[in-house]
Amino acid sequence: MITIVSATNRPGSSTLKVAQFYQKQLKEKGLDAGILSLSQLPANLIESDLYGKRSAAFEPIQQVVTQTEKFLFIIPEYNGSFPGVLKTFIDACSFPESFYEKKAALTGISSGKYGNIRGIDHFTGVCHYLHLNVMSLKLHIAAINKEFDENSNFFKPDTLQFVNEQIDKFIVF
Ligand SMILES: Cc1cc2nc3c(=O)[nH]c(=O)nc-3n(C[C@H](O)[C@H](O)[C@H](O)COP(=O)(O)O)c2cc1C
Repeated sequence: MITIVSATNRPGSSTLKVAQFYQKQLKEKGLDAGILSLSQLPANLIESDLYGKRSAAFEPIQQVVTQTEKFLFIIPEYNGSFPGVLKTFIDACSFPESFYEKKAALTGISSGKYGNIRGIDHFTGVCHYLHLNVMSLKLHIAAINKEFDENSNFFKPDTLQFVNEQIDKFIVF
């Protein structure tokens, strides 16, 4: 099972649009992928699901994580790194079985110039700690607000080429 993690809970996020674009591209290549948006997390996650607690609201999310073999994380740049809610989500998931010896591809996005290079590096360190094997080709999409057409699809030839290459590698990863 493949799951695209839209790694923010910000309402109206560009990250979710990017996740939906990747889902469409995977579908065109014959693969069904689900989207897990961190906006689906229980609002009181820090009380309900950390340090050994498990809520009924988080249980279906944990089941998706447990059943997933390959993750594709779309990660926005927040204050020079990945969002805190992504780390809280990882901390809430059952350890070590949620991510152990599974596979992940990473895409960083930002409104600024750097496409979350540093946040993707930081998150790669977390993945390595979890024994979550990271695909070496990582994408960094800067100035994300200039990347979408009126249907929230990428349209720039170089962006489409890089995403296509990443997806092809992800399929055989
Ligand atoms: C809390 C917060 C911190 C942010 N910090 C940065 C940053 O350090 N660098 C940057 O280029 N953009 C930053 N942004 C802008 C995001 O990159 C921008 O909102 C982009 O669209 C991706 O995030 P989104 O999925 O929330 O839309 C920040 C946004 C938020 C909400």
